[in-house]
Amino acid sequence: MSTNQHAWGGRFSQSPAAALDAINKSIAFDLRLWPHDIAGSLAHARGLRRIGVIDAAALEAIERGLAAVETELRDGTFEVRSEDEDVHMAVERRLTELVGDPGRRLHTGRSRNDQVATDVRLFVRSACDDVDARLRTLCVALADAAATHAAAPLPAYTHLQRGMPTTLGHHLLAYFEMFDRDRERVAQCRARANVSPLGSGACVGSSFPLDRAGVASDLGFAAITRNSLDAVSDRDFVADFLFAASMVATHLSRLGEELVLWSTSEFGFVELGDSVTTGSSMMPNKKNPDGAELMRGKAGRVFGDLVGFLATLKGLPLTYNKDMQEDKEPLFDAFDTIVLGLDMAVANIEGARFRTDRMRAACSAWVNATDLCESLVRAGEPLRTAHHQTGRLVRLAVERGVEIEALPLEVVQEQAPMATAAMLEALALQSILDIKTVAGGTAPASVAVAAAAARERATAAR
Ligand code: ARG
Repeated sequence: MSTNQHAWGGRFSQSPAAALDAINKSIAFDLRLWPHDIAGSLAHARGLRRIGVIDAAALEAIERGLAAVETELRDGTFEVRSEDEDVHMAVERRLTELVGDPGRRLHTGRSRNDQVATDVRLFVRSACDDVDARLRTLCVALADAAATHAAAPLPAYTHLQRGMPTTLGHHLLAYFEMFDRDRERVAQCRARANVSPLGSGACVGSSFPLDRAGVASDLGFAAITRNSLDAVSDRDFVADFLFAASMVATHLSRLGEELVLWSTSEFGFVELGDSVTTGSSMMPNKKNPDGAELMRGKAGRVFGDLVGFLATLKGLPLTYNKDMQEDKEPLFDAFDTIVLGLDMAVANIEGARFRTDRMRAACSAWVNATDLCESLVRAGEPLRTAHHQTGRLVRLAVERGVEIEALPLEVVQEQAPMATAAMLEALALQSILDIKTVAGGTAPASVAVAAAAARERATAAR
């Protein structure tokens, strides 16, 4: 009786069709899970030993064999065979070639279903650590640049129209806040992923008295899953990661766009470093912000990873379904993509030469109108009245092509009877920045304090 050569081939009399082989195999993309697969297998084997399912000699052979497999994988000498469906089968196959019978005992009390859930959770956990390290580096770079430019005036825009003056430091710290929230999101994702499914078997648990808690703590998991059916079919933690990655990508795209815009001749607020820009093959004059553009452009594919994976999960019946093998490519792609984006953001911020002269010059065109309005309110005018009076003054200033404070006092007082010469003097750029001392506001002294606090927050242990 000829059987199929796969590890699961006993009940099959024919080999898989080439098309099944092609659609079913994940080895081409899941081999990168090997460090986690080996760690999970080692912990599982030690657990089997603790409950007496394998003897000391078998454990010793498995440990030795897995160490050898690990070396081959690390050195790139591991040979993938045509029957290796996925990383789990490949590692077990090679282990058994190397150590024989003990290798055939490793999978006792385990299924690829709880095995792959474990491997992917370990991957997400380490991906969260890698992403957090990069977010932290970016946060430090932003806090440092903010400290340098705490007092440098910059127009704050709404609707991409000049609104009121702020400082470059305050602007950079707005990005700090976004990436700091990303760090929180990544930490929450890590915590939800950091739970061990091992011992859930294919779906209902195991008839062996597996030491689930011991295996979990061996792998550094904070807890074990509570329901085996859920444990093998839950990929919420992948979706969590993809959402956290999508928010990172969103923030990178906003920062990227701002750098693209600011580096135009029209804005001229920043000169990007040579190391993050490229030239044109035809126009010798060009210096293109490709790095920042790709920080902006890569967001699309990360959203695709999230939305595509949610579509995969939607409507799946309990428990494990092969559809779930489709979790890996979006997960790896989103991770790799935001790592590139974060590295690019750090290089852009560290290499940026901010044109604070141009930013200061742009703090013109009636950006102090709100301040005059508020001075009139402080003098007793109702806000709506003061707003109208100031609006009429802006119209006059626009007609004459001057700033509000350049209008003769008598002209100002015709529209705003409570206006004084002191009020017009207080419209100076420095004064209107200094007065914004409300918590979270733009006053340069507050921004300097905020930049120092941000740096401390970015470097503190979490
Ligand atoms: N390669 C599979 C995956 O990534 C491993 C689990 C396979 N389980 C199974 N019962 N065929 O999901």
